[in-house]
Amino acid sequence: MPAVLADCSTSKARTSLLTLPHHTVETPVFMPVGTQGTMKGILPQQLEKLNCQIILGNTYHLGTRPGPELMAKVGGLHKFMNWNRALLTDSGGFQMVSLLKLAEITEEGVNFSSPFDGTPCMLTPERSIEIQNAIGADIIMQLDDVVKTTTTGPRVEEAMQRTTRWLDRCLAAHRRPDEQNIFPIVQGGLDPELRQQSARLHTEREVNGYAVGGLSGGESKDEFWRAVHLSTNILPKDKPRYLMGVGFALDLVVCCALGIDMFDCVFPTRTARFGCALVPSGQLNLKQKAYASDFLPIDDECDCSTCARYTRAFLHTIVTMESSACQLLTIHNLSYQMRLMRGIRESIKEDKFPTFIQEFLNKLYPGKD
Ligand code: GUN
Ligand code: ZN
Repeated sequence: MPAVLADCSTSKARTSLLTLPHHTVETPVFMPVGTQGTMKGILPQQLEKLNCQIILGNTYHLGTRPGPELMAKVGGLHKFMNWNRALLTDSGGFQMVSLLKLAEITEEGVNFSSPFDGTPCMLTPERSIEIQNAIGADIIMQLDDVVKTTTTGPRVEEAMQRTTRWLDRCLAAHRRPDEQNIFPIVQGGLDPELRQQSARLHTEREVNGYAVGGLSGGESKDEFWRAVHLSTNILPKDKPRYLMGVGFALDLVVCCALGIDMFDCVFPTRTARFGCALVPSGQLNLKQKAYASDFLPIDDECDCSTCARYTRAFLHTIVTMESSACQLLTIHNLSYQMRLMRGIRESIKEDKFPTFIQEFLNKLYPGKD
């Protein structure tokens, strides 16, 4: 599936062309997250203008409303939302467990109460794949058993082993293997042995790519990056590797160096809705009074439509009053994220990724020689 364009000569970073049924994606790539088939604060045509090549659809929402039957009837999510580029859907269980906190996990699947009317529902590996087959995304994810990184003891191993059993049920239930690529998810918490065992088990299956999961919640950078490093050491070099739920700029740069190709996170769009703009030195909270008389753009090196037209002072004024500020900040933040990834890809192509990292860190932590 991927054609590798270049390997970094000093790290595990690589840049490649990932050919998917609806679009060819340049990696490393950041994938913005949509809900209900559309992005909060941004439209599909604006995402195209930002040169965004792949986005996430949300199975948990789409599985309930408008529902897989309607989704199949209209010919899938691509047609439903008029998005012609690549799409990826998550399997839904993680969202249920992390968002609803009403979920109970058994060997059969994830038991939860409907957020709409409280009726009991069961998301099994088979049902997740049935829903994802109806949605029709280019990449679909296995249902996995995820534990918090703060969980210790036998539950971590149980979840890791169950994830592999659920993977095999997902692979058996998949009805559209020629049109949709299914990715297993490496689990195992922060335990190095369990991580490596999970990665080894999953590499024994016939798939076109792999995800690394269970790493977006509160662990130290040291443990997080180590788990990524151990996973990518085992996952095959010729298949894409997707790190789930990670989107801070520093983590993107470090995890590219550790051999990750794909990322997704609600962070850039969510933080925009709180009035925060992403910049090379970190974040600007435009709600702060200091910006009331600051007539610079958010970032004078940014080429987005928000930075071309609006000052920080203008954004400060409307950010506390209006939702249009959220849209303007969402465009800027996604533009920042896309530009960061383009910079990473271009530097790998020229075999100058170490220089890129040095310049990136100098901007994030200025004042050091
Ligand atoms: N999103 C962020 N982390 C995870 C994970 O571990 N599993 C799934 N399915 N989705 C995620
Ligand atoms: Zn901008």
